[in-house]
Amino acid sequence: MQIFKEKEALKKQIKALKNDKKTIGFVPTMGALHEGHLSLVEQALKTCDKVVVSIFVNPTQFDNPEDLQKYPRTLEKDVEQIKELSEEVIIFSPPASEMYGDSVTSEEFSFDGLEHQMEGKFRKGHFNGVGTIVKKLFEMVEPDKAFFGEKDYQQLQIIKKLVEKQNLNVEVIGCPIHREANGLARSSRNERLSPLERQTAAFIYQILKQVKEDFGTKSAKEINDWVLAQFESQPALNLEYFEIANADSLVSIEEEDRIQKYRAFIAAYSGDIRLIDNIALN
Ligand code: PAF
Repeated sequence: MQIFKEKEALKKQIKALKNDKKTIGFVPTMGALHEGHLSLVEQALKTCDKVVVSIFVNPTQFDNPEDLQKYPRTLEKDVEQIKELSEEVIIFSPPASEMYGDSVTSEEFSFDGLEHQMEGKFRKGHFNGVGTIVKKLFEMVEPDKAFFGEKDYQQLQIIKKLVEKQNLNVEVIGCPIHREANGLARSSRNERLSPLERQTAAFIYQILKQVKEDFGTKSAKEINDWVLAQFESQPALNLEYFEIANADSLVSIEEEDRIQKYRAFIAAYSGDIRLIDNIALN
């Protein structure tokens, strides 16, 4: 198994693979790998000759320094988990200096308004940070296909927009949300929940499932009021937002139009741990 820490060494290896006409699949991660990540790697292994997984906790996408500091870092365990899937995967795990040099700052992007919806309202600069690192990584890895989980659905849409606007030659593939046995969407942040908090957090998915069921018969306003009332009766979770939004534009629903595709989105805190989830409604 190859593990690179330096971008020049990685680029040399990528060049050799390109010369051999190998297709490259890429799974960018911030480590603390769970089954959701591993399913992305499996998907990549099925469809590409060679797979690169990056493990890099990207400082520019954190609006909260404490969240950055507490973000789980488990490189050895991550490497072991990938090894169990395949010894052929290339891991790229650079220090911040390799990615940012002396200047740990984000490029400013316009994602045609996608960046102002939902997460964008609560996490200042987050999507500029994501866009900056993903663009840098795409330039280094030169993947044919890149795999992202739908749990971060807004991020997925934004990366598709980044690729379109920057004319990057990569196919962005969204993969279904992986869930724990109780329905909680898998996330590296779940590691920071106590067993009781982890059990309670399954409430988020229960609400989303009910929203999906009600979407055909109730108005968006009725559903919204019901969701707010449910969270008020659940003091262990602090709702940041609930939105039903167009699945492409991410604009909040005003009038239902059954031709459009909609998704419901939730962000909520369990203590100081922020959890997000979403579901396709139609
Ligand atoms: O989804 C993530 O883990 C991160 O936002 C990503 C895409 C690896 C960029 O740092």
